[in-house]
Amino acid sequence: MTGARNRSGRGQEAGHSAESYANPRPPVALFGRERGPDRFMLALERVAARIEPVTARWRPGHPPPEPAGDLPVRVARVEHPAPDVASLTLVPVDPGAVLPRWQPGHHVDVVLSGGVVRPYSLSGDPADRSSYRIAVRRIRDGVGSGLVHGLTAGDTVGLRGPRNAFPFSRAERYLFVAGGIGVTPILPMVRAAHAAGRRFRFVYTGRDRGSMPFQDELPETAEGADVFVRPDDEYGIPDADELLTGLTPGTAVYVCGPAPLINALRERVPRGNPFFSERFAPPPVVDGRRFEVRLGRSGPVLTVPEDETALDVVRRVRPETAYSCRQGFCGTCRVGLLEGSPDHRDRPTGGSPRGREFALCVSRADEDRRLVLDL
Ligand code: FES
Repeated sequence: MTGARNRSGRGQEAGHSAESYANPRPPVALFGRERGPDRFMLALERVAARIEPVTARWRPGHPPPEPAGDLPVRVARVEHPAPDVASLTLVPVDPGAVLPRWQPGHHVDVVLSGGVVRPYSLSGDPADRSSYRIAVRRIRDGVGSGLVHGLTAGDTVGLRGPRNAFPFSRAERYLFVAGGIGVTPILPMVRAAHAAGRRFRFVYTGRDRGSMPFQDELPETAEGADVFVRPDDEYGIPDADELLTGLTPGTAVYVCGPAPLINALRERVPRGNPFFSERFAPPPVVDGRRFEVRLGRSGPVLTVPEDETALDVVRRVRPETAYSCRQGFCGTCRVGLLEGSPDHRDRPTGGSPRGREFALCVSRADEDRRLVLDL
């Protein structure tokens, strides 16, 4: 996905779910020189690419992969910075080992019990290679968040990544907006901008102060740095115009939060401002046409309506079908494609080639066409 912005929603949007890849620049060492690919990360992703299909190809009736099949880490600490938020500090199982590098906006896929994989933003200090921190708000009936909240110090989980689905680019000025637990990817960005002396405004919204984690980690407001904690119960529900007050041309806008917040801002941010966002939920289907999928060469034929994904439909008859990001970048939902011409809408991240596979969560087919899936 290229271009300064993407308004179509197609094939975009992590953990919560990462939405936009509106990065007009190549990856940079933040506030430094432009840089080429990180060789260590490329090597790691190549290794991950060989491991990843274990989950992607898991089939009903087969035991799910062991959680520690990827990069095993140990839960060193569990804290609760808000009543329904678990903050986990993860350290290498191997004492003295260092964890892969990351930048603000990166997330890791956490391989939980039963092969459930969920992406969570890294919210700690990128300079600390001895530990990662993720924070997860418990969602009612949420499988992934329930499993994370069941973890205790000493437990081991597997990690994949880090991956970059919410790229933090160099800019002279920033507007950061976070809604609730959306603070997790934004917090390292705010710290980085603050440490680099960039001008920025950060508006942190949420239901009430008690529900908004990590307030104690926000940088002090200083010259050029404006931090505004804005609970709804004190200021009312925010609207886009208010949040964008004082936005100057060229200021990069970074948003993470619920879809309505992101959508409202996307509509109001002028075209001269790079816009980047990450959402909690999968994006709506855009330009969807009805098509069919057959599960195996002789299995049932399912119709995928215009406004649903193949993953939605397949999970009704195969509820154990694995998925994670639901946005087309992690590869967890990919299945073999036996026949048919797909409209690939996924965006495989480095080292994870698509091949003859089909990403159930976002990819489609032309109207009334049928795909035969290896399911
Ligand atoms: S669930 Fe991540 S690519 Fe489909």
